[in-house]
Amino acid sequence: MEPEIFINFKHYENAVGKGAEQLLNEFQTVNKKNYYYCLSYMDLYLKSKFNDMNIFSQSLDSNGYGAFTGSISMDSLIDFHIHGSLLNHSEKRVKGEDIINTVNNSKKKGFTIVLCVENIEEVKDYAKLAPSYIAYEPPNLIGGNVSVSSAKPDIIEEAAKICEHYDVNLLVGAGVKTRLDLEKSMELGASGVLIASGIIRDPKPINKLNSLTNLQ
Ligand code: G3P
Repeated sequence: MEPEIFINFKHYENAVGKGAEQLLNEFQTVNKKNYYYCLSYMDLYLKSKFNDMNIFSQSLDSNGYGAFTGSISMDSLIDFHIHGSLLNHSEKRVKGEDIINTVNNSKKKGFTIVLCVENIEEVKDYAKLAPSYIAYEPPNLIGGNVSVSSAKPDIIEEAAKICEHYDVNLLVGAGVKTRLDLEKSMELGASGVLIASGIIRDPKPINKLNSLTNLQ
């Protein structure tokens, strides 16, 4: 099976606004159906230009439309033709009750949730909600050079077993930089990776994306 690659643009200066558009222009030339691009809310309008690409939000709130200042609702995302989002990223944590409501709501609306978790206890707690994906990312490795697949192989294997039991796809992230990191993650039972700095902060993001998934 082809690895699923979720690229989190975060709020890096070269990956918001004009930068987001430029990166999507480049990635469009090598786009695949198993690539997902997680954009800042203010850049989600780009979906209308890059309609053939899987564009996800980086976060969302549990409310619908109404008097909710600053909200990102699932309803508004769907109206923007955005059908998936990260939730509870380590840099944007969400209350437990909101996670439960949002995941339940996502199933009714056919919306894809990538539920981020920080440790094996959270994998156990949240896999039973059966979101589309669980993304295991140890916070201390995020943005660093040590890959989660080298630092936490036992936890990935355990998380993969739990996720398989609940029919949830497992992603892993933090410090993923190379094809070897990706292959190791897959061997341990992940269906793909969630990656940010390894691609976005690389001097040549498109080459980096290619080097991850295509044989050189
Ligand atoms: O969402 C992806 C992320 O938190 C991992 O970041 O920079 O270690 O790939 P990075």
